[in-house]
Amino acid sequence: MLEQWIIDALATDLQRDSREGLARQLMRLLRERIRSGQLAGDTRLPASRDLARSLGLGRNTVLEAYEQLQAEGYLHSRHGAGTFVSGLFASAPLPASRRHQPLGLSTRGQALFDSVGLPTGLYGAFAPGVPEIPLFPHACWQGLLARHQRQASSAMLGYTADGGLTQLREALAEYVQLSRGVHCRPEQVLITQGTQQAMELAARLLADPGDVAWLEEPGYVGAHAALRGAGLQLVPVPVDDEGLNPAAVTDPRSPRLIYTTPSHQYPLGVVMSLPRRLALLAHAARSGAWILEDDYDSEFRYSSQPLPALQGLAQDERVIYMGTMSKVMYPGLRLGYLVVPDSLIDPFRAANARLYREGSHAVQAALAEFITAGHFARHVRRMRELYRERQHQLRQTLAHSSAEGLLLSPGHAGMHLVASLSASINEQAISLAAAKEQVWLRPLRRHYLATPTQSGLVLGYAGVDHQAIQHGVATLARVLQEVPHHD
Ligand SMILES: Cc1ncc(COP(=O)(O)O)c(C=O)c1O
Repeated sequence: MLEQWIIDALATDLQRDSREGLARQLMRLLRERIRSGQLAGDTRLPASRDLARSLGLGRNTVLEAYEQLQAEGYLHSRHGAGTFVSGLFASAPLPASRRHQPLGLSTRGQALFDSVGLPTGLYGAFAPGVPEIPLFPHACWQGLLARHQRQASSAMLGYTADGGLTQLREALAEYVQLSRGVHCRPEQVLITQGTQQAMELAARLLADPGDVAWLEEPGYVGAHAALRGAGLQLVPVPVDDEGLNPAAVTDPRSPRLIYTTPSHQYPLGVVMSLPRRLALLAHAARSGAWILEDDYDSEFRYSSQPLPALQGLAQDERVIYMGTMSKVMYPGLRLGYLVVPDSLIDPFRAANARLYREGSHAVQAALAEFITAGHFARHVRRMRELYRERQHQLRQTLAHSSAEGLLLSPGHAGMHLVASLSASINEQAISLAAAKEQVWLRPLRRHYLATPTQSGLVLGYAGVDHQAIQHGVATLARVLQEVPHHD
């Protein structure tokens, strides 16, 4: 991890268009960090080949910088062991965001921090998972919020433990039954502060630390965080063109939880086939596992009706269904929901109220009216059209650029595409080079728990307007040509 912060810091500070040559800049940046004590004595620097590859530099550039700093006494090399910082300068505390040395965290906490770090919260081309927030009907929503805040009864303003406001649970139960084929009564719906909290709650209530959880590979980093944070052992399950494949798991341990995105696999975009759904349900029944079904963006399906949820197919109540308002409204609302089997209603309500307290009932009342008055459905329809159009634009713009050969995921649904890259292209260097122009190309490798088997870039388009798509594609096409390939 220490190596990674050095690489990230250098990648941020190197100026490719500066008159100062790259080797000189690298020397200066390393010298400054050694003098300030940020790079403490005995710190091992990344191997020259690795640093060159990560930064998209020639290896000779890195060797030149390392050799000069050795000559100046800042670095020394130990035969066969690598290049190290000489202990000439007192060490200083690292900036908080770069502190990767032990902090007194629990083993579980350190593993969580090391694997996921701080989220970036980026917007614009091509930040994945961000909806078109400016076109949300803010005036209508603010009006509803203000009225429901004004009219809130004292019961709504006190501590509550009903699993959320009844009117909202009723509205959501009807919505998921009609539009997603979920079998449920309003009592089974529990309002959460989004899917992240729903997964955390489910992991705490249904699994013990050390239990095994299966996750799609590649998969959703938010699920990695929630399940790792609950102390579970994460087992990656390969995704093929029918979705998560239980038959491909070689780990003999039975899972306690299985996290999946069957409607639209995150991030590859595969829809889980019916035979695979049945096989997964049969596997869960046999092994006594709970399935966590994350139905995060099924509203945005472009080619046909959305497929019914897995929960609706299950006979024996082993599926916990999770939905969110983050994609259809906006992430900052922090509102999502769970549909749990009858036997779990009380434990989930109790844990939710005891661990987190319920969210604002006045906001939930506003949302219930937003849904029942038809504003929600109207907004979803508008956004579906807009996102379809933006995806089309992204494909067309790419097709007319020098990146025309990129293989894109099918895009039948959702808010992003995955562009496959050949293994010789350095995802990380491409991403770093584009970030200098405020273009966010998330390497597919970030979605893997184990060694990545595919290379690619995740390209969010939902919250990206025409102009930003043009700029983003031009940048992507240019960095693909400029950044050196792996050997
Ligand atoms: C796969 C997946 N599930 C769920 C979510 C939404 O999470 P939350 O409701 O916590 O905002 C996202 C958002 O990026 C996602 O990509």
